[in-house]
Amino acid sequence: MLSPTSTDVVRATLPVVGAAIGEITPLFYAKLFAAHPELLRDTFNRGNQQAGDQPKALASSVARYATMLVDPATPDPAELLSRIAHKHASLGVREDQYEVVHTHLFAAIVEVLGDAVTPEVAAAWDEVYWHMARDLIAIERGLYAAAGVDPEHVFRDLVVTARVQESPDTVSFVLADPDGAPLPAAQPGQYVSVGVRLPDGARQIRQYSLVRFGGDEWAITVKAVPARTAEDGTAIPEGEVSNFLHRNVFEGDTLQVSPPFGDLILDDSEAPVVLISAGIGTTPMIGMLHHLSNAGSRRPVTVLHADRSPSRHALRRDLKELVATIDGATLVRWYEDLGTRAPRADLAAGLVDLDAVAVPADAQIYLCGPQPFMESVHAGLVAKGVDGDAIRYEVFGPDKWLVG
Ligand SMILES: Cc1cc2nc3c(=O)[nH]c(=O)nc-3n(C[C@H](O)[C@H](O)[C@H](O)COP(=O)(O)OP(=O)(O)OC[C@H]3O[C@@H](n4cnc5c(N)ncnc54)[C@H](O)[C@@H]3O)c2cc1C
Ligand code: HEM
Repeated sequence: MLSPTSTDVVRATLPVVGAAIGEITPLFYAKLFAAHPELLRDTFNRGNQQAGDQPKALASSVARYATMLVDPATPDPAELLSRIAHKHASLGVREDQYEVVHTHLFAAIVEVLGDAVTPEVAAAWDEVYWHMARDLIAIERGLYAAAGVDPEHVFRDLVVTARVQESPDTVSFVLADPDGAPLPAAQPGQYVSVGVRLPDGARQIRQYSLVRFGGDEWAITVKAVPARTAEDGTAIPEGEVSNFLHRNVFEGDTLQVSPPFGDLILDDSEAPVVLISAGIGTTPMIGMLHHLSNAGSRRPVTVLHADRSPSRHALRRDLKELVATIDGATLVRWYEDLGTRAPRADLAAGLVDLDAVAVPADAQIYLCGPQPFMESVHAGLVAKGVDGDAIRYEVFGPDKWLVG
């Protein structure tokens, strides 16, 4: 808990800090990267900085945490902290870097809020920052210990033993230790961080869900993110790392890969499981289905997947084959463009239609896909009477939903 004085100050200044936080975080990152260009080059995702997603996620997470500290009725931020800590651990964030972030964050706060930052206000927000930092550092320590790595040595070189074109814009990479050593254990639903050295010398890192794991091989499936035009006509450049992987990485090449992290993990109960995905959001579901299939699971499994068309559906055949190996598992697919295929009970045109599916009352539900898709499915499930606590999801980018 915060000290009583700080609680009062934070409560009183939360509206003004909250209102300015959208201005504070971009300035914070500008200061951080001016002092430490290597962080933008080698650790942070420069695409997310360009798009402004990461500054928004950081700002909202701090505001949400501060709200929790001063208002006990606010939901516990455990889920938020866990997501951030897993991401940090997969990137090798170190304890001493919290000092660096603190320096530039507070310099940005002072610059934006000016005289409003009295010594009392600064001290109170300092307490908030270190409260959150201590929580994150404690979880990250536990994650590094469990993975048997220290933050300086999170990445190891793995060799690409196979490359498979899954659909026009997705490729799978099978990864193994160059000496054939077994790879660390992973849990179904987890991801690895993958680092690549780009032509301009930057080491950029992205996360990819494990579609296959166990033994001495892992597999990831990467969608090449295309250049496109935003609704306001702005040109959006193509994704850096996904296209680099597609164009340049082949059998025999090495990638820097972290141990598995991520807290969207298939529960190990006997409850029915419902997996709902769209597009490349199928990857954690494929990992979970491999696990259920290998374990000879007898849990009732319902898989719902939406995609643009059968020909663009990455891992379509794996999905069908895996579902077929699990006793009583069912699969329903929706395609925006079904082509000339006739609709059936398990194959329909359009978007996911929850009215067409029975969701068991005690099901554990996992979602992955674009955020608008997940928000709409989430709302549909809740409208059907599903308990929101039974629904878990993965966002393939900074999670603005959790903090929003
Ligand atoms: C937990 C997790 C699991 C994931 N699993 C998978 C997976 O299994 N498979 C998979 O394919 N992906 C997965 N992802 C997504 C993946 O990590 C990358 O985000 C994805 O490959 C895009 O990376 P990129 O380097 O190609 O794009 P980036 O260069 O990082 O760009 C990110 C986005 O910003 C846009 N952008 C770039 N510059 C600008 C700008 N100036 N203005 C506006 N927008 C801009 C890009 O077009 C792109 O949409 C996962 C992500 C997470 C967090
Ligand atoms: C209290 C301090 C901190 C807070 C509140 C915080 C918060 C966050 C949040 C909310 C995310 C996005 C998580 C997601 O949804 O994916 C994130 C990601 C990240 N954080 Fe932190 N963080 C803190 C400290 C640090 C430190 C000390 C570093 C080390 C330099 C760091 C480096 C990163 C990086 C590299 C990412 C991924 C960014 C990206 O890929 O776009 N953070 N952090």
